[in-house]
Amino acid sequence: MPPRVRVFAPASVSNVGPGFDVLGFALERPGDVVEAEAADEPGVRIVEVAGDGGELSTDPDRNVAGVAARSALSALRGIGAAAPDAGVRLRVHKRMPLASGLGSSAASSVAGALAVNELFGRPLERRALLDHALAGEAVASGSAHADNVAPSLFGGFVLIRTYDPIDVIDLPVPEGLRVAVVHPHCRVETSKARALLHGHPFTIEQAVANLGNLAALVVGLHRKDLDLVGRSIEDRMVEPLRAPLIPGFAAVKAAARRAGALGCSISGSGPSVFALADGDETAARAAAAMVDAFRDAAGLDAESYVGPIDGAGARRIDEP
Ligand code: HSE
Repeated sequence: MPPRVRVFAPASVSNVGPGFDVLGFALERPGDVVEAEAADEPGVRIVEVAGDGGELSTDPDRNVAGVAARSALSALRGIGAAAPDAGVRLRVHKRMPLASGLGSSAASSVAGALAVNELFGRPLERRALLDHALAGEAVASGSAHADNVAPSLFGGFVLIRTYDPIDVIDLPVPEGLRVAVVHPHCRVETSKARALLHGHPFTIEQAVANLGNLAALVVGLHRKDLDLVGRSIEDRMVEPLRAPLIPGFAAVKAAARRAGALGCSISGSGPSVFALADGDETAARAAAAMVDAFRDAAGLDAESYVGPIDGAGARRIDEP
């Protein structure tokens, strides 16, 4: 058993237009880092949380990394891979904004579960870590949706076919597909953005539009048809309800399209907005246009991340 491990779990974009709670992909950056080390006191303790501006709890029952780590440790005890009195100390380094729509709680949850598994020599399969990370995500947003957790854990572009039982399917990522994600300096709490949807009377026409776009998006990824991917980034159900939570959203989306983006929508529950593009140059142009639009239309500063979809997912970063 190594004395200490350090893991990284990437941010992610979920929903991806029409795929509410069922589609997501990982970003190369930003992401969270969690360190785990063996301790004499049984159970999980969080000895440090950094980069959160003092907002997050160090109580392992209320911190998503702690909840996921506890869940993983209990599974390791159950299979005899950890002693009944095994103890773990965690350090959580938030390297991404909270309530940003970038899967911040999912990244911390994934990193917490992965760090414990790595500390004990990786007895659990990666797939088994999904349930432990979901336990963390459920604490953050009141719902164990996997469309941020699964891409952060596995990397790539994923589809959650069902939740009961959970069935995660890898999707291909066409060469040249790039992402521009822009995070305006405002916040949207996922639980509130989800509450907007509960009991909303969606029409069958909205459902038909989203089903068609979701299927076409998956086909577009398989056919490496970036135009089809782009025109399938259309959400007639959730985006119209959540857009008012994001100041300047319409202007930002229009700016991304004018800059040549293939498609643009809300990242997760927002306020970040993502655009897909063919190639680095267009992605960078779209990101710059979106940042300008947030400033001009809403007076908001914003930062952007541009790059490919991350293929590696969560990983140890203290090994050569
Ligand atoms: N699918 C989730 C939502 C992602 O849109 O509420 C946010 O965590």
